[in-house]
Amino acid sequence: MKWLFATLNQAPASNFMPPAGTEVARQFDNLYSFLLITSFAACVLVMGGMIYFALKYKRKTANDKTPYISHNTFLEFLWSFIPLVLFLAMFGWGWYVYHQMRQMPENALEVHITGYKWAWDFEYKSGKTSSGEMVVPVGRPVKLIMTSKDVLHSFFIPSMRIKQDVIPGRYTALWFNADQIGDYQVFCTEYCGDMHSRMLAKVRVVPEAEYDTWIQENDANLSMTERGQKIWAGKCVACHSIDGKKGAGPTWKGLYGAQSHAIEGGTVTVDENYLRQSILEPNAQIVAGFPKGVMPTFQGALKEDEVTALIEFIKTLK
Ligand code: CUA
Repeated sequence: MKWLFATLNQAPASNFMPPAGTEVARQFDNLYSFLLITSFAACVLVMGGMIYFALKYKRKTANDKTPYISHNTFLEFLWSFIPLVLFLAMFGWGWYVYHQMRQMPENALEVHITGYKWAWDFEYKSGKTSSGEMVVPVGRPVKLIMTSKDVLHSFFIPSMRIKQDVIPGRYTALWFNADQIGDYQVFCTEYCGDMHSRMLAKVRVVPEAEYDTWIQENDANLSMTERGQKIWAGKCVACHSIDGKKGAGPTWKGLYGAQSHAIEGGTVTVDENYLRQSILEPNAQIVAGFPKGVMPTFQGALKEDEVTALIEFIKTLK
C-alpha cells in the first residue's frame, strides 16, 4: 500500500493549478487529475458509444425491425463492476487525502488567526503579532487556530489547497507543511461585505533562520511613521487608499489638516483628535457620502501607541 501512495504522490502537479506548496497539495492535485481523466474517459465512452450506435442502428428502410434483446448478463456485470471499482478507488483515495488534510500534527507551530472586516491578524506564541502577513519556517508543520471578530469569513491558501470557514464565537483549524520557500496568497472565500474581495493576506515561507530573526524582531526600532504604515498595510488597506482613490472608506491622502471636511450634518477640521475619534468611534462623525456602521471600531484592537503611530502616518500623506 505504501508504495502505491508513494507513486501517486510523485507525479508533477498539473500546470493549470496554482503552484503546489505542500506534499498534501500534490496529493490533492493527483487525485484531482485522476477524477478528471476518469470522468473524461467515461464521457467519451458513453457519448461516443451513444452516437456510434445511433448511427449504426438507425432505421434505414420502412421494413427495418428492431431485434428483441432482453438482456446481456456479461455486459451488465461489466458496466456495474468497473464503475464500482472506480468509485471505491475514488472514495479510498479521497479519504486518504482528506485524512491527511484534517489530521493535525501534534508538534506543529501554532499561529492564531483573527479575521474581521476586512483584514487578517496573526499572533504567535511568543506574543509577536502581524497583520496581513504571516511568516512561517519551511519544512515545519504549521497549525492555524482561527476565529472571527464579526461575521463569517473563510481562510483560503490556494497553493496549500486548504480552506476553512472562520466563525465568530468559536475556533476552527487548518494545518500545512510548506516545503517550498516563497510567497503565497491568502483569500477570504466567504462573502463578508463590501470589501470581501480585498480581504487579502500573504503567507511568507522562509528558511528557519530567517523565521527566527523575524519572530524576534519587534517594531521598537521603526519610526512612528513606519509603524503606522505597517498597521495601515495590514489592517486598513482594504478600505482606505493613500493615493486619493475612493474605497469603502475615505482616502487618507490629504486628509490631515483639511479645513471644513464634510461630515454628516456639518464640517470639521481634521486634526489628531478627529482622527483618533474616527479610529476608536467610527460612527460618531461619519464623513459625508459614506454609510454608517461599515467601519468596525478599533477600540481594544489597537494599542494606544499604535493609534498614535497610525495618526503620524496619516499626517505624512499630503
Ligand atoms: Cu472576509 Cu470575505
